[in-house]
Amino acid sequence: MEIRRLGATMGAEITGADLNRLTPQEFEAIREAFHAHKVIAIRDQNLTPAAQLAFSRRFGALEDQLNAHYTIDGYPEVLVLSNDIRDGKPVGLVDGGDFWHSDSSHREYPSMATILFAVKNPSTGGDTEFADMAAAFEALTEQMKHRIAGLKGVHAVSKLKNRRVRISARRPDGKDFYERQKAIPDQIWPLVRTHPVTRQKALYLSPRFTIGIEGMAQADADEILDALFEHQIRPEFVYRHKWRDRDLVMWDNRCVIHRATGGYEYPDVRTMHRTVVAGDKPI
Ligand SMILES: [Fe+2]
Repeated sequence: MEIRRLGATMGAEITGADLNRLTPQEFEAIREAFHAHKVIAIRDQNLTPAAQLAFSRRFGALEDQLNAHYTIDGYPEVLVLSNDIRDGKPVGLVDGGDFWHSDSSHREYPSMATILFAVKNPSTGGDTEFADMAAAFEALTEQMKHRIAGLKGVHAVSKLKNRRVRISARRPDGKDFYERQKAIPDQIWPLVRTHPVTRQKALYLSPRFTIGIEGMAQADADEILDALFEHQIRPEFVYRHKWRDRDLVMWDNRCVIHRATGGYEYPDVRTMHRTVVAGDKPI
């Protein structure tokens, strides 16, 4: 098994591993690489949904998927992300993740890790961008670190509560979906969190989910949030993953934000299988 750095501050590819038959030592090396590199791409895998579930569960309990409609029959924890259409119907979720975010930061227990297996990539586009929130925190001015110390962000799931995002035109039921989501309570998390394993501090906010700062007037909160949203995606913190078929990519939502970049259209099909490992409350 070989591990090679992909991005400037994070990201690594792992070759020579077969997730269907990992030794305990190899699994530990993968876990260590995950903590060291924050985003890992394990190349050339042959994974059934059951095998992806088994690998994912080694990291902890899995999240149930909010879009139950697009899970694989018999595997409610495996979500299909796809723009494919069969018998006139979409086979998967098409508009996932086009604004920068950390998965499930709007939930009571936000995600620890997201695992995507690339079943089929389009001929162009479909890249995923990742930004390193530990590097972004380190690069803040001392003045900004001081200003945000102890502040907490408000995280909301409904796009209708967030003026910084839009509902995809590719999703005809989107307005109703996000209208119903307005009833889901917001979550309040520190703007800076400490990673429970590496102890690194990282920014924990995103334009997709963070809509305010607890106890602060909206105009004052927006000034801080806008500055941090601009800072956190500076090019030196970003790694852009160009997928190969049968890549399994796993990232740490506790210290990385990400977004889908699109750039492909049906009938150029992109299909991924997604599993999510549940995490702890950010502190
Ligand atoms: Fe996501």
